[in-house]
Amino acid sequence: MPPIEVLENIFWVGAVDWNVRHFHGFTYSTHRGTTYNAYLIVDEKTALIDSVYGPFAEEMIVRISEIIDPSKIDYVVANHVETDHSGAIQEILKLAPQAKVIGTARCKEGLQKHYFGNWDFQVVKTGDEINLGERRLKFIETPMLHWPDSMFTYIEKDALLLPNDAFGQHLATSKRFDDEVDEKILMDEAAKYYANILWLFSSLVIRKIEEIQKLGLKISMIAPSHGIIWRGNPMKIVEAYLRWARGEAGRKILVVYDTMYGSTEKMAKAMVEGITSEGVETVLVRLPVSDRGDIIKELLEAKGILVGSSTINSGVLPDVAPFLEEMKGLRPRNKIAAAFGSYGWGGGAVKIIEESLEKAGMELVAPALTVKWVPDKDEMQKCFEFGKKFAKKVTKTK
Ligand SMILES: Cc1cc2nc3c(=O)[nH]c(=O)nc-3n(C[C@H](O)[C@H](O)[C@H](O)COP(=O)(O)O)c2cc1C
Ligand SMILES: [Fe+2]
Ligand SMILES: [Fe+2]
Repeated sequence: MPPIEVLENIFWVGAVDWNVRHFHGFTYSTHRGTTYNAYLIVDEKTALIDSVYGPFAEEMIVRISEIIDPSKIDYVVANHVETDHSGAIQEILKLAPQAKVIGTARCKEGLQKHYFGNWDFQVVKTGDEINLGERRLKFIETPMLHWPDSMFTYIEKDALLLPNDAFGQHLATSKRFDDEVDEKILMDEAAKYYANILWLFSSLVIRKIEEIQKLGLKISMIAPSHGIIWRGNPMKIVEAYLRWARGEAGRKILVVYDTMYGSTEKMAKAMVEGITSEGVETVLVRLPVSDRGDIIKELLEAKGILVGSSTINSGVLPDVAPFLEEMKGLRPRNKIAAAFGSYGWGGGAVKIIEESLEKAGMELVAPALTVKWVPDKDEMQKCFEFGKKFAKKVTKTK
């Protein structure tokens, strides 16, 4: 794949990683691979915006070499320290040792602690600019979106925002633009990315978007560091971020559970019937056979969640515990919840689930429903009603 001219004299020189299936260690499943997007701006001065993951350095250098001699690079802008974007900096600086590395103070500190290089570093703050000739690079610090070092680069001439990890999607494709790929797949991957990487920072997301609106920056194109570039209607992804950050969701209900002998599963399925009878969309997920990252994405788009576990040794089943922990960490906004499960004698699982749901900041809208051993006909009917009532609450909640 040759370099792609995104705008006049601005080239995509990144790499497509078709095979990666796990990100951030094993915490995020990338079923569709990803891309590492680096951009080369050729002007009186030449700037490389971000680089690629280390193993793809050669690929990036080949692409750059099709446009210019890499030794001619004047600036390497590091919007973010994380190795999927900085991994090839060392290789580039071997070819262009005179190039200045541009980043925030925390980026400088972070890059030194990753690569131990003695580089010519220029620290920038929000509002600082670098003149390339026809174009100027403007920087906006975005701490904790999603690392302390993160920043955005903006080019006024093209109304182009280069926000690094923000607005990205893990999606390997031979296409480079939003209007060239399947919209549903694209928005699904963007939602999964937001849910798994940015959800926790939602209040910062809202504040940063408001700050950029106040600065009055016109944005015609958003070129993130993963996946496709938003060019048709770049505000579409900004509006989606605001929706997700505010906790606005459809009427969907997520039913998440685990079971040993099928009793809690029977309860869950009766609840799904009850929810469906109200015309509300629902997704049933058995934790040990489902993908973590996908479940979190489903939760982002759900208004309510029912969590079920039978009791084992007075607690929840082993695959339920990490899910509860994760929800406590993500603190999903604006969701309603309830617990359920089968038990044999003293019980205990639903109490743990309820405590976790509350700690995650969710509103418990019904007392937990428990069944001793196997649910009988009446108890199945109660589960059905439980689901139905919960669905009614979802349709009433804003
Ligand atoms: C290894 C094991 C430990 C259990 N520990 C408890 C317990 O501490 N308290 C309790 O009330 N029930 C306990 N139970 C009983 C289960 O909660 C009960 O069988 C329940 O109906 C299982 O529901 P399920 O088919 O949805 O897994 C235990 C069952 C097993 C197999
Ligand atoms: Fe990152
Ligand atoms: Fe990244």
